[in-house]
Amino acid sequence: MCANNLDELFRDGLKQTYYTEQQLVDALEEMERQSSEEAIQTAFSEHRSETQEHIDRIETVFEMMDEQPEAKTDNAVKGLIEDHEKFLTHDPDQHVLDRYNIAAGQKSEHYEIAAYGNLIPIAARLGMDDAADLLEQNLREEQDALDELSGIGEAFDYGQVPSG
Ligand SMILES: [Fe+2]
Ligand SMILES: [Fe+2]
Repeated sequence: MCANNLDELFRDGLKQTYYTEQQLVDALEEMERQSSEEAIQTAFSEHRSETQEHIDRIETVFEMMDEQPEAKTDNAVKGLIEDHEKFLTHDPDQHVLDRYNIAAGQKSEHYEIAAYGNLIPIAARLGMDDAADLLEQNLREEQDALDELSGIGEAFDYGQVPSG
């Protein structure tokens, strides 16, 4: 990263968040497919549609800056996805996988919330109020998705999971 001023810091963060959202569209689809419970499937499926909109809004922000949308690898998200793939190679019990995926979803929402929570005030500081508004819409949907997954995690029926 070579961000020497606030404008570069914003552009860099936006590119990494663009990468994050693109990765999460695929990850959410995969986690929906892997889940055995309807509530989990619905949460992942609905947030997948929202995530596609997050990508569209970020592309609009790039347009506002007269820039071509560009994704930059975010190693934290890449690592989460790699851990997920590694977990699958151990052929987990279905309910253990459900519980793992709820947590994986929550981690990614927390991460996105942190990203948008910082991009928004920086956009506002740079005088890009319209961009800040669009990113704020993404942030609100991340928070709602986190609440939804947290509720599912709290209501999870541990009786069905082998305790080892
Ligand atoms: Fe998102
Ligand atoms: Fe999200």
